[in-house]
Amino acid sequence: MNLQKELLLPCGAKLQNRIAKSAMSENMSPRHHGPTKALIRAYQSWVDGGSGLLITGNVMVDRKAIGEPGNVIVEDKTDFALLQEWASIVKGTGVHLWPQLNHPGRQAIGFINNEVVAPSAVKTKVKGMGVMFKQPRALTEAEIYDIINRFGNTAAIMKEAGFTGVQIHGAHGYLVSQFLSPLVNQRKDQWGGSLKNRARFVLEIYRNIRKKVGDHFPIGIKINSADFQRGGFTEEESMEVVQLLGAEGIDLIEVSGGSYERPAMIGSSQKKSTQEREAYFLDYVNKVRKSLSTPLMLTGGFRTVATMERAIAEGELDVVGIARPFTLYPDLPNRIFAGDLARLDIPSPKTGLQMLDSSGFLDIKWHEVHIHRLGDGKIPNPKLSAYLVIAYNLSETMRELVYGLPIFKKSGK
Ligand SMILES: Cc1cc2nc3c(=O)[nH]c(=O)nc-3n(C[C@H](O)[C@H](O)[C@H](O)COP(=O)(O)O)c2cc1C
Repeated sequence: MNLQKELLLPCGAKLQNRIAKSAMSENMSPRHHGPTKALIRAYQSWVDGGSGLLITGNVMVDRKAIGEPGNVIVEDKTDFALLQEWASIVKGTGVHLWPQLNHPGRQAIGFINNEVVAPSAVKTKVKGMGVMFKQPRALTEAEIYDIINRFGNTAAIMKEAGFTGVQIHGAHGYLVSQFLSPLVNQRKDQWGGSLKNRARFVLEIYRNIRKKVGDHFPIGIKINSADFQRGGFTEEESMEVVQLLGAEGIDLIEVSGGSYERPAMIGSSQKKSTQEREAYFLDYVNKVRKSLSTPLMLTGGFRTVATMERAIAEGELDVVGIARPFTLYPDLPNRIFAGDLARLDIPSPKTGLQMLDSSGFLDIKWHEVHIHRLGDGKIPNPKLSAYLVIAYNLSETMRELVYGLPIFKKSGK
């Protein structure tokens, strides 16, 4: 099978096959935000499943800026032994394990952050969920340099702990993607305005990481093909940015799209025909492929092995990225390679409340619960009720309200 072929990355590292688990925020580390034993157990089941690459859920680079209540945060060596334990599960297996490094910027849940920052003071607007987000403050230039440095710092710690690469989260409306978007980035200095200026942040992050991890360590990025918002980061601009990153020597470009405001990444705002055709952002990949030699990974909507196999065979992309199906089929690569899995059927949980069902929130939370089940050694439950998932999420949020509010925290931990 073409999906079983190795892939050589520009830095010299090899992926053992073409199937990657894309990042899924696990939300399993409340309060102290270190990796937990349950989180490591969930990853063990994915390591045993035979992927070429496992990308972790987003790991925050700054304790002052948390996307969700249970994110792992790595800004120093506080949890180094646990990080080593997490990374050790891929030793000798051939599977790559890359943490996805992120700063949420304005797209951070308000009640768990004292203050929210962004390129400019433009608030996240999600229909019906406005209370979740705070008005952000524009970053100072010194703070921008501090965040760039933090990406490099966290990458260096992860490398020392034994992770085999890193991915920059440059997609889905988080800070890197906010800098790229002219809607959110209205700065008048060297970080805003022209595309060259808006792309400076991500390029400086890449350079900072590269300086700290060396030339032979894989660095990837997840980037939006577009934000799908009028006045936002466009497809043409995205194509220019991937060229710039390719010229810098980045190892793997994962293509996605959208943000909380327009959740195209999980298909919520995609046309039915696009969903049925699978691979939501394939048109973009076909265009970018012509002028880019950097390995490309595409994530979003892959559900049949025939489509995945064809995309690799025809050279449209190099790595097939899969997220939600991995919570129900943790061993999907091995089963695909053995020929006993042709389709990745996943349910589409619904409450009947249009706003909730179309926001993407429910879908994400449903799969998040399944990652928690994996961590507890439980088998997947495709029939799990959407209402139970909402109740579970509310109870977790309440727990965080009691234990996790910054005002209750000592020494910012
Ligand atoms: C529970 C859950 C959490 C997610 N967390 C992240 C994340 O931390 N970082 C990220 O880049 N994408 C995240 N995503 C998006 C996925 O990586 C992927 O882009 C999306 O689900 C589409 O791929 P799929 O159709 O194979 O699920 C998440 C998706 C889900 C379902």
